[in-house]
Amino acid sequence: MPPPVKKTMRHLKKTVFGFFFLFLSLFLTDLCFAYTIVSPVSSKPIIIQARRPLSTMVLKLSSKDELASLRVATAQNRAGEDQVIDPMGLYEKDGLSYIHYSLPLKKGDNTFVINPGEQELKIEYIPVRTLLNINFEDSNAFLFHRTAVIPEECGLCHTEQLPEGHGLDVERLKKNADYSPACFSCHRNLHSKGEWLHGPAANIYCMSCHKKGVDDTKITLLTGRVDDVCFQCHINKIKFRTQEHVHGPVGTGDCTICHDPHGDAYQFQLWAEGTTALCIGCHGNKKNIGKKSIGFYPHGIVLGSGCVACHSPHASGNRFQLYKPINELCISCHINLADVEKGHPVGNHPLKNKIDPRRKDRELACTSCHNPHGSNYRFLLIGDILGGHVCNKCHNN
Ligand code: HEC
Ligand code: HEC
Ligand code: HEC
Ligand code: HEC
Ligand code: HEC
Ligand code: HEC
Ligand code: HEC
Ligand code: HEC
Ligand code: HEC
Ligand code: HEC
Repeated sequence: MPPPVKKTMRHLKKTVFGFFFLFLSLFLTDLCFAYTIVSPVSSKPIIIQARRPLSTMVLKLSSKDELASLRVATAQNRAGEDQVIDPMGLYEKDGLSYIHYSLPLKKGDNTFVINPGEQELKIEYIPVRTLLNINFEDSNAFLFHRTAVIPEECGLCHTEQLPEGHGLDVERLKKNADYSPACFSCHRNLHSKGEWLHGPAANIYCMSCHKKGVDDTKITLLTGRVDDVCFQCHINKIKFRTQEHVHGPVGTGDCTICHDPHGDAYQFQLWAEGTTALCIGCHGNKKNIGKKSIGFYPHGIVLGSGCVACHSPHASGNRFQLYKPINELCISCHINLADVEKGHPVGNHPLKNKIDPRRKDRELACTSCHNPHGSNYRFLLIGDILGGHVCNKCHNN
């Protein structure tokens, strides 16, 4: 399979002697190239779909002396600058040197230039925090090792042997058919990333979720939808599908938009602290409600237990995925109003079973007058109680 390289000779393109020089230079540079790109190898443009904006490139040198003249850089950006990439490691086997580079990727097209020879490597990077744009059913949709087959010579060093200091009970792990140490030998960084590891990934049971493709070299997921993968073990969570109110990303089966299936920095393998920071990571308009600021009355509980004091991150039987219907939810903490059907805030004022005059499709509830997320007015009210600015929202006179 030819490598995805384009030998560019921009300065010669327009000359009549272009072809002549091209052949001559190809001949000469082939002699000069003492390196080969071992990986990635692909006849098609390389597509990488991953969380981490990084890819590994491995070059083989016949002589270590060549290292001094080797230069890998990103192609020039608009400002005309390029970024030189230092090798990550140099490993030797049978007199050959394998140099590993970790290429930083940006979303979309990336071009790297390897010198001498000005070989170009093009990689399209699709971040997969959102898996929504991947059609797993597509027979070509091998998410992983997609067009690139892992070259056999990688196996010279990347064996079933776990790296030193892994601290795992290999004898026990081996009993599970999904145990896949070879994967781990290249993908070790899935573990160092965070302290909250997901059980099966921590045990290197990669094949409990991944599977090899028809031709044994491509790697994909066990099932079509990511949540199907999760439900295989977390069977009690299938109920998310049938609950009446399902959180947006859970509804689309996108468990991994919040949980890294391997592990992440926060509890439950989340990429941000799960009670509030995670939520405002997507619900940006709520980002200030968990902070004290001048002229703003936060709801004490948002500062404490956070969003998940009231909302399920997954699904529930109530609108907005609330754990309980609104009034029940509020009085579960504000117990002084527990048995009050009427009589708050004044006289015989009803608290439910009436249409809310402000939002005619909704019933009167605590949130008709209070904002559960905090307010610029005392008691989290929807207006200033002084001057009748609360009452006149519904009572015109
Ligand atoms: C010889 C090293 C090596 C081995 C062994 C290996 N991989 Fe990979 N894998 C890579 C490289 C290189 C990439 C490309 C992304 C990168 O550069 O990090 C990759 C990419 C992936 C990706 C996704 C990223 C993408 O490109 O879409 C998955 C998933 C994956 N590998 C899973 C596995 C599993 C599961 C196994 C074991 C069956 C395995 N790999 C074995 C080197 C390896
Ligand atoms: C000469 C031995 C050797 C060969 C051949 C080799 N590797 Fe490696 N590779 C290593 C060593 C050693 C490490 C790092 C181990 C360590 O740091 O503990 C490594 C690390 C890696 C990593 C992990 C990098 C990271 O981010 O930590 C990847 C991915 C990888 N190799 C891919 C490949 C691929 C793909 C090939 C084949 C094209 C290959 N290697 C060929 C020896 C080799
Ligand atoms: C619990 C299921 C599960 C297990 C176990 C698992 N994976 Fe994954 N992996 C996934 C899913 C799902 C994706 C798809 C991308 C996403 O949603 O994060 C993925 C993506 C990847 C990726 C590329 C994307 C990324 O996150 O960088 C690599 C590489 C990978 N897996 C390797 C491995 C290796 C190696 C193991 C074993 C140590 C393993 N996986 C174990 C479910 C799993
Ligand atoms: C192969 C079986 C398996 C698959 C598939 C699987 N899990 Fe798990 N998961 C486990 C095990 C085992 C634990 C550890 C349970 C424990 O410690 O209580 C766990 C724990 C978790 C936890 C932490 C639970 C806690 O209370 O700390 C979360 C979150 C989680 N998994 C999410 C997922 C998601 C999301 C997926 C799909 C991408 C998934 N799991 C797929 C087996 C699996
Ligand atoms: C919007 C982000 C988000 C999405 C999407 C998401 N989760 Fe969670 N998940 C959380 C948070 C936050 C927690 C922490 C528990 C809590 O605070 O209620 C959690 C906890 C968990 C737990 C451990 C605690 C428990 O309830 O047993 C499991 C298992 C789990 N999620 C599985 C899943 C599965 C399966 C999916 C996909 C169907 C999914 N999650 C989708 C945010 C999410
Ligand atoms: C990955 C992004 C993401 C994260 C993280 C996230 N959400 Fe959401 N959330 C969404 C999307 C998408 C919707 C659906 C939006 C829509 O239907 O308008 C949604 C909808 C909601 C709704 C219903 C809104 C409505 O008007 O019906 C609530 C409530 C909600 N999220 C609360 C939370 C809470 C609490 C957390 C943290 C546990 C959280 N979200 C984390 C993306 C996210
Ligand atoms: C005290 C309980 C409580 C807490 C804590 C809470 N919410 Fe809510 N949330 C509600 C209620 C009740 C509603 C319905 C509001 C209504 O009836 O108007 C709601 C509605 C929403 C909605 C949909 C309507 C809107 O205002 O956009 C989103 C999104 C939402 N909450 C996100 C969050 C996020 C993010 C957090 C944490 C930063 C959070 N909530 C904390 C109770 C709460
Ligand atoms: C999980 C417990 C919890 C839930 C649920 C809850 N709250 Fe609160 N609420 C608190 C805490 C804690 C405070 C802060 C008390 C303090 O500072 O003295 C508070 C404060 C308030 C205040 C301000 C009281 C004052 O004297 O300034 C109002 C009003 C209020 N909540 C209304 C509601 C409404 C309406 C709901 C339902 C949407 C609700 N709460 C749900 C715990 C909760
Ligand atoms: C019709 C509007 C309205 C509704 C509906 C309403 N409140 Fe109030 N609430 C008020 C007003 C006005 C105040 C301020 C009272 C004052 O000035 O003494 C208040 C004060 C509060 C306070 C702080 C003072 C105290 O009594 O501790 C809490 C807590 C509270 N409400 C909770 C609730 C809960 C819980 C519900 C739903 C069961 C609810 N409110 C429904 C208008 C309302
Ligand atoms: C969110 C809308 C809303 C707000 C704000 C509101 N009310 Fe009401 N109020 C109602 C509804 C609905 C009724 C019931 C009307 C009916 O029975 O048809 C009602 C009924 C009343 C009643 C008659 C109760 C009885 O004795 O039968 C009084 C008095 C009253 N409100 C005073 C107030 C005062 C004072 C305020 C400001 C502190 C206020 N309301 C704020 C919606 C509201």
